[in-house]
Amino acid sequence: MKVIAVYSTKGGAGKTSAAVNLASEASKSGAVLLWDLDAQGASTYLAGVKPKLKGGVAKLLKGSNSISDVARKSAFPRADGSHRIDVVPADDSYRELELMLDAAKGSRRRLQKVLKDASGTYDTVILDCPPGASLVAENAVRSADVIVTPVPPAALSLRSLEQVRDIVADSAKPAPILAFLSMVDRRKLTHRRAVEDLPAEHSEIVDVVVPASVVVERMGAERAPVAAFAPRHQVTEAYTQLWKLVAQHA
Ligand SMILES: Nc1ncnc2c1ncn2[C@@H]1O[C@H](COP(=O)(O)OP(=O)(O)OP(=O)(O)O)[C@@H](O)[C@H]1O
Ligand SMILES: [Mg+2]
Repeated sequence: MKVIAVYSTKGGAGKTSAAVNLASEASKSGAVLLWDLDAQGASTYLAGVKPKLKGGVAKLLKGSNSISDVARKSAFPRADGSHRIDVVPADDSYRELELMLDAAKGSRRRLQKVLKDASGTYDTVILDCPPGASLVAENAVRSADVIVTPVPPAALSLRSLEQVRDIVADSAKPAPILAFLSMVDRRKLTHRRAVEDLPAEHSEIVDVVVPASVVVERMGAERAPVAAFAPRHQVTEAYTQLWKLVAQHA
């Protein structure tokens, strides 16, 4: 079982969009668990799952509930031959998550522990992380085999990439970071320059560009990954490429 944390300290960078589309790509080759770690519940919503975590997050962290008790079947349309995508939904109990982790013994390894019993059931786990630097993020980073970081072409995003780098470096088991340019609008000179220059300047930034497109925004209305309603779109191709690289790193 490979664990992929989709993470950036930057909000609105394209993490949830990437998490859902990578889950869709991963389901072509095995069973997937998408864990919504963000109280906003965006991936829970996209997956058509009720924002209700059975027993709350406290029971899951303490081990009195396991992943198999709380995972829900996603409502994503299932492509021919694809495997299941289950979701651990986010709910209001997440408000206490940071405090709970802070109080827990081994507070940076809790998530890793919870994920252990999922390894017989799932081939891939995708963690949709909240923005910011938090214990939740540190837990996700610690559990992950690869960290996937969307980078919209802006100076502040590069600052976020640096922060991710620092957080990963501080982890007991630093995983590789795979960053990609997200929300790229090639009509803008600064974006075109970013596509040309940034992959050479930052070793983590791979050669995959997710363009800015309404197709990604449509995911909210369709409640589906882009592959389900725009299979031949550039955006879908970009996520397919991204998954190939992630799978190589994991
Ligand atoms: N490539 C794209 N083109 C156009 N819109 C995009 C693209 N990627 C994401 N968006 C839109 O930008 C918004 C933020 O994206 P998303 O939710 O994926 O980011 P996030 O990093 O998960 O945000 P948060 O930090 O709030 O969790 C969403 O409305 C999404 O539809
Ligand atoms: Mg998000």
